[in-house]
Amino acid sequence: MAGNGIELIDRAEAAARLPEFDDLLRLALTAQGRARAPYSKFNVGAAVLGGSGATFLGCNVESASYGATICAERSAIVGAVAAGETAIRACVVVTPTAEPSSPCGICRQLLAEFGPDVLVFAASSLGDSVYAARLGDLLPLSFGPRNLEDAAGSARTEDKR
Ligand code: THU
Repeated sequence: MAGNGIELIDRAEAAARLPEFDDLLRLALTAQGRARAPYSKFNVGAAVLGGSGATFLGCNVESASYGATICAERSAIVGAVAAGETAIRACVVVTPTAEPSSPCGICRQLLAEFGPDVLVFAASSLGDSVYAARLGDLLPLSFGPRNLEDAAGSARTEDKR
């Protein structure tokens, strides 16, 4: 246990926890090979499992205007949503690091749209280790629609004054 519900396991254990893990890992590795990362040279692949059971892959696509870069995880989510998925059950991300790198804050935030129970597996393309966590453990007390509703409520109160 790496702490706070985040566990360091191996690929076999990940497959035992999520039957689709091997398929998702294969897709993520394929996507990693397609990454467009000429600036960072840090190729990332991801795959997500939609609510329908279909799988979608994504890779990072960098821009010379660095802020326009999209991460692999968000690129996979965009593909899933564009294909009609309304739920995301799991995300596997693969980085070229001996210790797996877990999703960046912006990707965690977008994953949070699909709820705290999304399973996140961060794998290494160099080895067997995998971090496994629920999204809610990676991004506790996340900003969400509830916060927007609170603000709308207070705006309505102000209108009545
Ligand atoms: N990157 C991802 O694709 N996912 C992450 O969760 C972290 C970072 C990409 C963005 C950029 O192209 C490169 O890795 C270096 O930051």
